[in-house]
Amino acid sequence: MDSIINFIGHFHPLLVHLPIGILLFAILIHWLAQKEKYVLFKNIVPFSYLIGAGSAIVTCISGLALSTNVEYDTQTLFYHQWLGIFLALVSLLGVYFTKKNKARELKWAAITLLVLIFLTGHFGGTLTHGADYLTKGLKSKKATKARPNFSNVQEAILFEDIIQPILEEKCYGCHSDIKQKGKLRLDSKEWILKGGEDGLVFHQGSALNSPLYKKIILDPLDEKHMPPKGKPQITEKERVLIEWWINSGGYFDKKVKDLAQPGNIQMVLANFEKNSPKALNNDVPTNEIKLANQASLNNLTKMGVTILQVAKNSNYLTANFINVVKTNDTIDNLIKTVSPNIVWLKMPGIMFSNSLANAISYCDSLTKLSIEHSTITDNQLSNFQNLKRLHYLNLVGTKISLKGLLQLKSLVNINELYLGQTSITNKDAALIQKTFPKAKIIFGNYHTENIASDTIVLKVASKK
Ligand code: HEC
Repeated sequence: MDSIINFIGHFHPLLVHLPIGILLFAILIHWLAQKEKYVLFKNIVPFSYLIGAGSAIVTCISGLALSTNVEYDTQTLFYHQWLGIFLALVSLLGVYFTKKNKARELKWAAITLLVLIFLTGHFGGTLTHGADYLTKGLKSKKATKARPNFSNVQEAILFEDIIQPILEEKCYGCHSDIKQKGKLRLDSKEWILKGGEDGLVFHQGSALNSPLYKKIILDPLDEKHMPPKGKPQITEKERVLIEWWINSGGYFDKKVKDLAQPGNIQMVLANFEKNSPKALNNDVPTNEIKLANQASLNNLTKMGVTILQVAKNSNYLTANFINVVKTNDTIDNLIKTVSPNIVWLKMPGIMFSNSLANAISYCDSLTKLSIEHSTITDNQLSNFQNLKRLHYLNLVGTKISLKGLLQLKSLVNINELYLGQTSITNKDAALIQKTFPKAKIIFGNYHTENIASDTIVLKVASKK
């Protein structure tokens, strides 16, 4: 039985067009028939109203079937449903008036129908496409989703000013007034506390017991992962903020300054402040440095490396090798020539050679090194013992062993260490923690994609 209802319901979006078209046609014919020239049309007015009314009734039935197995915003559904039923009734009246030749009444029925067609259609559109359905095309996407920017982030309300915009951007598409996938809405405190189909999604004080957070950190390929595959994902910085929000009590009204802020949170928060020097503190050395050799930068760019300035007036650079499969001697030498300027190196999946490892060892300003899924060996890793400024190291999916990692014990400033999908496991956590006392050690599957993408970076202007 359920599947029959389901089947009928599915026709609703298709069927709706029939009564709209036919009834508008009936009204037009009826209006034209009053003119001498079209007087013959009179003969088909009753018939037009009849099939219009018939299709309106069928559409109502399919609509009722649909509403039993898809969740919609109840208030909008209420209006849409009753306006639709009223519309079907008025169209039946139209049939009656044409039969009885009641011209005046028919005129009023026609006007009422026009209004009803418009209103019912409008609420129907709102149900499936959201309230800003009509105006959406007019607004530019960017303007609606400005990233919050504060002059003092400490005064911001954590939920409203920082967390909600993340949910709005990444979750509302399926969990708000527009759609309620999993019977879940996330667009207000009340809805978040209410939970979804499987119960509560949010446990104040424990991110790991909150499906709202747990689904974000699931393996991206897991079908329960949120947002679903192919949709814009939560970035590492956003993840950290959501985790912090829930773990520090999941308050909806507290200001940032009212909550304890671990080091990594301070850094992420500072990124919200416009031109905050703090934002880059941890990542960029404070000492002045000469401009890097422009010819070398140009050559690296030609080889597929993306070079960015870390900040507008800084000579420090990030180098992204995402388009480079394997370096050669030329690239390795170029890295050496610009090495003092490089603070972030992003080399996911790169084929390591001894000469590349050696070139990186010259980058003594380096604070972030992403070499996840690269072929680096324990032996090559030992080159990095002198990168004293390094505080972020991503070794996810590499062949590095515990012994290999411990060669870097001199790097006491490391505060983020990613070790997922390596032979190193949780049972070594205590030892690693002792070796890298400041580090937050992350074993999870969580894939950190964009280390630099959340920070304002500007392309190196080619200086003459
Ligand atoms: C493209 C649509 C889509 C987006 C975007 C999306 N979700 Fe979902 N979500 C779903 C679907 C479909 C389900 C139901 C299926 C399931 O439970 O896996 C669901 C279910 C859930 C559930 C379980 C609800 C319950 O009780 O069953 C949670 C929690 C959740 N989503 C959180 C989120 C969060 C947090 C975000 C934003 C970071 C998000 N979702 C973004 C489609 C989406």
